[in-house]
Amino acid sequence: WVVDRVDKNVAATSPQIIEAASYLKKGEVVAFPTETVYGLGANARSDDAVLKIYEAKGRPSDNPLIVHIADSKQLQEFVQEIPDYAQKLIEHFWPGPLTLVLPKKNGLSTYVTAGLETVAVRMPAHPVALALLKASQLPIAAPSANLSGKPSPTLAKHVEQDLKGRIAGIVDGGPTGVGVESTVVDCTEEIPVILRPGGVSKEEIEAIIGQVCYDQNILDESQKPKSPGMKYTHYAPDAPLTIVDGSPEFLQSFINREKRNGKRVGVLTTEENKDKYEADRIIICGKRSDLKTVAAHLYDALRKFNEEPLDVLFSESFPREGVGQAIMNRLLKAAGHKIVAQSRFE
Ligand code: TXA
Ligand code: MG
Repeated sequence: WVVDRVDKNVAATSPQIIEAASYLKKGEVVAFPTETVYGLGANARSDDAVLKIYEAKGRPSDNPLIVHIADSKQLQEFVQEIPDYAQKLIEHFWPGPLTLVLPKKNGLSTYVTAGLETVAVRMPAHPVALALLKASQLPIAAPSANLSGKPSPTLAKHVEQDLKGRIAGIVDGGPTGVGVESTVVDCTEEIPVILRPGGVSKEEIEAIIGQVCYDQNILDESQKPKSPGMKYTHYAPDAPLTIVDGSPEFLQSFINREKRNGKRVGVLTTEENKDKYEADRIIICGKRSDLKTVAAHLYDALRKFNEEPLDVLFSESFPREGVGQAIMNRLLKAAGHKIVAQSRFE
């Protein structure tokens, strides 16, 4: 077991990266930072290595993994054809937090794709991830490096909390940055479909290729999801969470009611509103005026609620624009879709 701290601008030839790459080449699993969240990497060509990922995470075997590459030429090895709009997305957003689902060839372990005819691929924008990909010379299958069901890790210590003793090591490159996972886009249809909102927004994608739509599942959670990972409960803190869409005063009224019943209450808020609540634990996850800061701290905030015993949790709501779409998607999962809107009380 090793935790290696590396400088963000580490080279592919540095000893720590070469060591981590040697574990990957030996078929071990290693956690590493990407610009979104920490990934749990393994050689995507090896059945044994990929199975270790599912085992370490306790991940259901029908939920496929994303393949990470350092050079778009590597796509030829395991992707059949790339539609024009996908090529444009690659040119514009790679390296970056955008994953493309494309028709696959047979170059990879079938466990990566969990039996599907498609493969999800992305080129991460983190210098440490790119250095590791270059040093290993491998396509790396990597889900988020958390135990299945927990919030994704945005700090090396989150990976340690979940996976210490279950994986070969962690390359610690500090906080990840974007904080929510990549946007997953299905590129097998004439019009691309967003299967998971993430670090690149629908608006940004539309500005490059025009029409794109959300999978029905994102709009209406009762539909059967196309991205297998979207059907599992995720991100939930130990205590039940409710999202409150309204003013801080409205949210405080919920806190007060719980407190009258002797409950210990936690609240997830923002810089702007932090002084407006009275609760047992107040966690600030960024600035409402800059939703990127909220995305960056969201998962750490959700993990912090488990640091002390709390009975009930409330969160502010966020506008579903830009990265706000990904923030609300993850918060709703963490809350098991419990949301109350002030407008329904007025
Ligand atoms: O930002 C990210 O994407 C991070 C970092 C580590 O790159 N990775 C990540 O992986 O979030 P994971 O495994 O936690 O999420 C992958 C998502 C899942 O929802 C999975 O179901 C979906 O991508 N997915 C993978 N392959 C797919 C495919 N062939 N078709 C549809 N969805 C797929
Ligand atoms: Mg995940």
